[in-house]
Amino acid sequence: MSLPNAQPENNASGAAAEEPRRILEVRNLSVEFYPGSTRAFHAVVDANFEIEAGKMVSVVGESGCGKTLSALALVGLTPPAARCRGTIVHGSRSFEASSSALARLRGRDVGMVFQEPMTALNPLFSLDRQFREVLRYLRGVEDRKEARDISTELLDRVGLDRPERRVNQFPHQLSGGQRQRAMIALALAGEPSLLIADEPTTALDATLERRVMELFRKLADEGLGVLMISHDLPLVADVSDRVVVMYSGYTVENGPAHQLVDAPQHPYTRGLVASASAIVLGDTPRLPVIPGEVPSPDRRPGGCPFHPRCPEKLDRCESEFPPESEPVAGVRTACWARGGDQ
Ligand SMILES: Nc1ncnc2c1ncn2[C@@H]1O[C@H](COP(=O)(O)OP(=O)(O)O)[C@@H](O)[C@H]1O
Ligand code: SF4
Ligand SMILES: [Mg+2]
Repeated sequence: MSLPNAQPENNASGAAAEEPRRILEVRNLSVEFYPGSTRAFHAVVDANFEIEAGKMVSVVGESGCGKTLSALALVGLTPPAARCRGTIVHGSRSFEASSSALARLRGRDVGMVFQEPMTALNPLFSLDRQFREVLRYLRGVEDRKEARDISTELLDRVGLDRPERRVNQFPHQLSGGQRQRAMIALALAGEPSLLIADEPTTALDATLERRVMELFRKLADEGLGVLMISHDLPLVADVSDRVVVMYSGYTVENGPAHQLVDAPQHPYTRGLVASASAIVLGDTPRLPVIPGEVPSPDRRPGGCPFHPRCPEKLDRCESEFPPESEPVAGVRTACWARGGDQ
């Protein structure tokens, strides 16, 4: 699988590039629920990853693996019943994952893009008016002409054609892909250094999906940090620098995007890659190579949570959780069959 847009970690001469600016660092992030009648459970367990300026990092996994909760925790948006632990460093500011101060980062420091544009766009107002309000709130822009100029520039930046006309339109006058671009422009209005996008293209067809992904790549190339959440490994691997694979709340593999696709280490990542290839070849509909389902976090099996579905299972996998190892330089994985016992 080719990766035309993926960025090398070093420059072409092989010399180490200039020290990259770290935008986000997530240390030992856990999200726990205390349902009351049953015992507490972890929906996210000890997540660790970082994003530098100009890089796009994607978190992938099937539904229910903890991707959305991990993203929401970065800006204090987890449900009230959730308890977050760990450390989240935005730029030079470090926060306890439970801190309510994280919410203040939304908009100015972190832009959020969701699956359904209408969660962010108000159907009753023109784009011009919606941008004006956001620009006044986030950047103190009071002048209508100035707000309009900035909005038009933002719409142009996200690739909307004729932005000076589009800015007068209402959301219902735009196609699905155009609405998604308008929402991305709105998320950029506060000049954030990090953009978080949770399954932003699921409602779009395959061609539009790819174009919107290429837009996120362009935004990263312009200097933003991008955190992409997706269930579609090949789609995001093509445009990402790194990929973090989650399974049942655990991070099972974290490495350069091209490496994860060309030489996946963890059996779950291998399954995702093989499933995607099978779909491309038209063999079978969805995820045929990984039988079974992701366990819900309150009924997770002991040992390695992937063991009931794993084709490479060893005896100890049922009882002992595998420690993290680095079987290939730059790739971290948690699997007994990949050096977890070294
Ligand atoms: N409000 C909630 N209360 C209890 N459990 C939840 C809640 N939200 C999510 N979960 C649990 O956390 C798991 C991970 O959720 P989520 O992060 O949304 O997964 P993903 O985005 O990977 O599909 C879910 O399968 C569910 O079991
Ligand atoms: S630890 Fe064992 S069960 Fe888990 S992925 Fe590795 S081989 Fe499979
Ligand atoms: Mg989700």
